[in-house]
Amino acid sequence: MEAIKVKEDFYWVGAIDWNVRNFHGYSTVRGTTYNAYLLLDEKITLFDTVKHGFEQELFKRISSVINPEKIDYLVINHIEPDHAGAFLKVFETVRPEKIFLTKNARLGLLAYFHKENFPFEEVKTGQEVRVGKRTIKFIETPMIHWPDSMITYIPEEKILISQDAFGAHYATSGRFDDEVDLCELTQESAKYYANIVYPYSPQVNKLLQMVKSMSLEIEMICPDHGVVWRKNPGKILALYERWSSYICDPRVLIIYDTMWKSTEKMAYAIMEGVIQEGVEVKLCKLSVADLTDLMREVLEARGIVLGSPTLNNGLLPTVSGFLSYMKGLRPRGKVGAVFGSFGWSGEAIKILNQYLDEIQAEKVSEGIKVKYMPDEKALAECMELGKKVAKKVKEFYFAEK
Ligand code: FEO
Repeated sequence: MEAIKVKEDFYWVGAIDWNVRNFHGYSTVRGTTYNAYLLLDEKITLFDTVKHGFEQELFKRISSVINPEKIDYLVINHIEPDHAGAFLKVFETVRPEKIFLTKNARLGLLAYFHKENFPFEEVKTGQEVRVGKRTIKFIETPMIHWPDSMITYIPEEKILISQDAFGAHYATSGRFDDEVDLCELTQESAKYYANIVYPYSPQVNKLLQMVKSMSLEIEMICPDHGVVWRKNPGKILALYERWSSYICDPRVLIIYDTMWKSTEKMAYAIMEGVIQEGVEVKLCKLSVADLTDLMREVLEARGIVLGSPTLNNGLLPTVSGFLSYMKGLRPRGKVGAVFGSFGWSGEAIKILNQYLDEIQAEKVSEGIKVKYMPDEKALAECMELGKKVAKKVKEFYFAEK
């Protein structure tokens, strides 16, 4: 386990978690990495640590370059345990002269570890520290995606160390964007944004504008998960600009579940209507869907049509579970509609509409509900609903062009 040279005097010394498949509910089907970076200068600096349990991998990689005890400075960009879980072990081994972090990170680490007397040095946006030939510049990024978060920039190397931002849960033997499948990387980056960063899109947009106004030249982006963007950092910056501005593809998702296939018949009829308008559509049945993969689809699709039969005056549990998750991730800029079958009370439509209201979707109608089983007339209405959604999605698309 060796350090990987990123640039002269700058190394990746993190850990690869090939086998994690559930990251606090996020389905990490391609595993993940916990990235840490080492800068060799007059003051040797370690940026972030790793998840608890991966300390030996971190130390082995550092030791392939220098004795870990020679590290002078530790920069904590983010305190979530996948990056700061090894903090205590690293601190006890390295005994750094200084630990740079935000005020919220200091308070957070004290709340996690309940120990005092760390050589913390709080930093704010714009502050710099000279480490020899190079400078480390700190930029606070509160709520991207925790209150403690910050990113660090090394102007002499044009390197941005970005903690979770621009990352992906993606375990690979390649450490750089030009060493992996770009299609897989883009998919994993989108999934990561949708499930981790999406609620904080306004903050991301503000950060991107700030980076522009500071005229930071960025040759490489080094996130805390996934690969280093060295060949094309502009690609991930452009994607973040797009996602944080709620720009979507002209596509419709029909997200539903069904008890006795009445709601499913409606879903198929709505799908047919969308197809007839020449718009791409995906049918997403929640009893067989991966919720985190589905959120990636939600991020990128303009149209969201929600369907559920009424069960016990509410929604099917698969539907309410997903919608509760989706609501917390705060999608915006969607076109929406709802549908569902019922037997006697029929509250599902009202509840589905409430979810659309909460994500501020533009509804094309108040939805369609059908008693027991849709007849030909009801299916024709469903098809019309699909057409209506598709037309609105096309309007958005042409307005954005
Ligand atoms: Fe990768 Fe917010 O921790």
